Amino acid sequence: VYPDQQTASVTVAKRIAELIISKQKNNEPTVLGLATGVTPIKVYAELVRMHRQEGLSFKNVITFNLDEYYPMLPTSAQSYVTFMNENLFNHIDIDKKNIHIADGTLSQPDVAQFCLAYERKITELGGLDLQLLGIGRTGHIGFNEPGSAPNSGTRLVTLDDLTRGDAARDFGGKENVPTKAITMGIGTIFKAREIILMAWNEKKAPIIKKAVEGEISGEVPATYLQLSDNVEFIVDQGAASALT
Ligand code: F6R
Repeated sequence: VYPDQQTASVTVAKRIAELIISKQKNNEPTVLGLATGVTPIKVYAELVRMHRQEGLSFKNVITFNLDEYYPMLPTSAQSYVTFMNENLFNHIDIDKKNIHIADGTLSQPDVAQFCLAYERKITELGGLDLQLLGIGRTGHIGFNEPGSAPNSGTRLVTLDDLTRGDAARDFGGKENVPTKAITMGIGTIFKAREIILMAWNEKKAPIIKKAVEGEISGEVPATYLQLSDNVEFIVDQGAASALT
């Protein structure tokens, strides 16, 4: 539990930087799983600052984003491609061919093939070194909504009504929020060598309490993280305020 979001975000960014630097020394790539949403914005801002002011290089970094709305044009203002470009990728020296984000333009019959290839690429690279997560008010991680299986892989899912409501502002109304998304599965996330889930402010307190102290159940997919030895929850005072 950190005093505030800024301190916590800087700590997470430092951890990522240390990982990248240690891997670079061994001439190994760092494979990062990244999240979008408001939660990681300050982490990305700090990584950009480290790149600009401290010379942190992302040349050896390979990224896989957790999810993308479906259908979604990458050029759309609400796409996670746009989000990642604006908050991180446009400001660092990452090789664009090392960036992986699910393709929201595929025709539905092609999605399953794409998802298998996404999983295969992660495996071929030796797995994710570190996966960043936020948490939705349904308890989703990625877009693994209530009902997701613990061994689920990358796939097309239907978004929960609450999740679409939370996204309504970005889309100018809930009716404009896509009903589906492509997301890495709980099983994909679990294979990461290190998982960091972040949550800020009191709005997240009830779901953080359920995720940490609640019974493990598909009703609150984040509770599956209780079964992982490699997970850390990094929260501010507000998000921690309901914990006993
Ligand atoms: C985003 C993602 C989602 C968000 C979650 C919280 O890539 O996978 O699980 O992390 O919906 O969103 P924010 O951070 O906007 O509260």
